[in-house]
Amino acid sequence: MAPTHVQSLEVLALHEPYPLILRITTQSDLLTQRPALEVSRDFSESRPDNPLVKQSVSPYVSPHKRFPMITNAIHPESAVKQRYAAAARTREPALCCAVEYDRRFLEVIPKEVIEKDYGCGDPSRYLKPGETVLDLGSGSGKICFIAAQIVGPQGKVIGVEMTDEMLEVARRNAPMVARQLGFANVEFRKGRIQDLELDLERLDERLKSRPISDAASFLAADGLAQDLREREPLVASDSIDVVVSNCVLNLVEPRSKRRLFEEVFRVLKKSGRAVVSDIVSDQPAPQHLQRDPQLWSGCISGALTEQGFLQAFAESGFHGMQILQRDESPWRTIEGIEFRSVTIAAYKGKPGPDDHATAQASPCRDGGACC
Ligand SMILES: C[S@@+](CC[C@H](N)C(=O)[O-])C[C@H]1O[C@@H](n2cnc3c(N)ncnc32)[C@H](O)[C@@H]1O
Repeated sequence: MAPTHVQSLEVLALHEPYPLILRITTQSDLLTQRPALEVSRDFSESRPDNPLVKQSVSPYVSPHKRFPMITNAIHPESAVKQRYAAAARTREPALCCAVEYDRRFLEVIPKEVIEKDYGCGDPSRYLKPGETVLDLGSGSGKICFIAAQIVGPQGKVIGVEMTDEMLEVARRNAPMVARQLGFANVEFRKGRIQDLELDLERLDERLKSRPISDAASFLAADGLAQDLREREPLVASDSIDVVVSNCVLNLVEPRSKRRLFEEVFRVLKKSGRAVVSDIVSDQPAPQHLQRDPQLWSGCISGALTEQGFLQAFAESGFHGMQILQRDESPWRTIEGIEFRSVTIAAYKGKPGPDDHATAQASPCRDGGACC
């Protein structure tokens, strides 16, 4: 790496018995938000020849130690995009857990969308008529099309997705669903859920007339992206009643997880809530599992522990976290670690009387898990 390209150098950790970890951010990381290069040297084994190792870090693996755990040198986002681009073309059964959706809502949804279901729960059942809903990682659009029917013509549903092939399936099927319903209240936008301000299609358009060919045009593009975030955000602050997501948060690369939860908080109205189904584990996934791109894109390696998941919401300012649904049996058990689906509600403001419906739907009333 040429020294002129280094934007910042950050010491992430320098405590025995942990390794020294440095985060080196280059100029290109600023625009693409690719993981910065992280290098570590393990001083716990006092070997003078102990080499520097390229790695990235997971901020939420250990809820007790506020200390990042070393994970991998793979690029999780590329692995995820590749896997779901293929899964948008041909159904991949290994990517989905069995979920019971309300059959009434499936009747108007085209078969292609239902077949390309890669969810692990059903956050849509906690929605109410008239709400504005944001679905993170909307895939082929199933949860959005169910939500559209629940919120009705007075409500609105926005799906955000980064994989072109998935967006194509969802957008192509949206007019068919609207025709069946007699109203159109769903739209799909291209973006990364950890950066809900940046509209990737607008950025693409603008960059066509200003291709990046050198450092100066690169920095100009970075400025353009920042300008777009401020002037024409993909999802505005305080604009959403309910953020839902079905089996996606685990797929966000470790160093963007904190920002992801902060973005969920930003876009919600003060009275808003998040209802998220996702895979969580009962122990942190060890490094060798995290280095496996198949396990990454397969909703395993990036899963937070259940406690880490709740803590991530709390650390981003959420209140009143509730476990609405928790699968008794694990979806998968790998090396003794159980990975299961949970559905969690978290409130931006303190829950009020309007949230009665959600509380009623919660198994907490029947002795289910609550925090
Ligand atoms: C497991 S699938 C779930 C899709 C959908 N929610 C469902 O229930 O069928 C994960 C989806 O999230 C998308 N995704 C993963 N990471 C993303 C990110 N950082 N930003 C936007 N979309 C993302 C993938 O492209 C994929 O379509």
